[in-house]
Amino acid sequence: MSGSKDHHRNDFLGPDLERIRAETFVTQIEFHDELPSTNDRALELAEKRAPLAPLLVLTAAQTAGRGRGSNRWWADGGALTFSLLLQAEAPQLPQRDWPQLSLTAGLAVCEAVEELVEQATLLKWPNDVYLRGRKVCGILVEVPRNQQGLLVVGIGINVNNSSRSAPAELQNTVIALCDVGGRQFALNDALRIVLNRLSQRISLIGKRDDELRDCWRRRCLLTGRAVHVDLGVRQVSGICRGIDDQGALLVHTKHGTERCFAGVVTLSD
Ligand code: BTN
Repeated sequence: MSGSKDHHRNDFLGPDLERIRAETFVTQIEFHDELPSTNDRALELAEKRAPLAPLLVLTAAQTAGRGRGSNRWWADGGALTFSLLLQAEAPQLPQRDWPQLSLTAGLAVCEAVEELVEQATLLKWPNDVYLRGRKVCGILVEVPRNQQGLLVVGIGINVNNSSRSAPAELQNTVIALCDVGGRQFALNDALRIVLNRLSQRISLIGKRDDELRDCWRRRCLLTGRAVHVDLGVRQVSGICRGIDDQGALLVHTKHGTERCFAGVVTLSD
């Protein structure tokens, strides 16, 4: 935990942990120089005991990051990789609103990235962030086993890990902030900006006004495009008609409009 021996100093993330805690909504920070996966560590903490949330698990080097499904998450040195353990049953985050959490986290990262590089981003439902047509951030939301009331939100952002050092198969599909900005970014500043956007946006979940929904819709990369959604149990193909008020992806198929609450989307146009 913050202040413990886990806080070895590190060029990027060590020195400013106190500032991150003082200037953001997280109350506890666990920092590791190296960790296989911040989501695995956050799930482990949640399953062992009841830690005080909101807790941030942060590492300077993630060696076995996980993506959705069986995907791995590439994160070279200079990437920002962290997980938040959130109290899911806080009044503003009842279970019926969890599908909106993914989109809201994606939206918050979109806004943080726009602030950092001053360029427009798009949100690929449910929560991938795209910059110049390439993926700059992935988000993995997980529910700990045996632990009611907590959620893990894992976020990986390509910051100073240039796509030039990515594995060959990713080189044309990923991008980093440094590729766009032409400079290195301070990871501490980027993290603080993302955390503050997250708390602002999460606090709007469940509110009656349309601010959040308008923001998702305006950035939706899939609207009007031919999509294929793998729902696990079945497949849905059609034209994306946007995102509804609950955060479901609307897909117009020959059998009518399908509402997809979770799934993996590929573009088919
Ligand atoms: C995806 O796009 O499939 C989701 C990628 C999520 C990656 C982040 S990096 C921090 C956290 N720890 C993990 O092991 N995964 C998430």
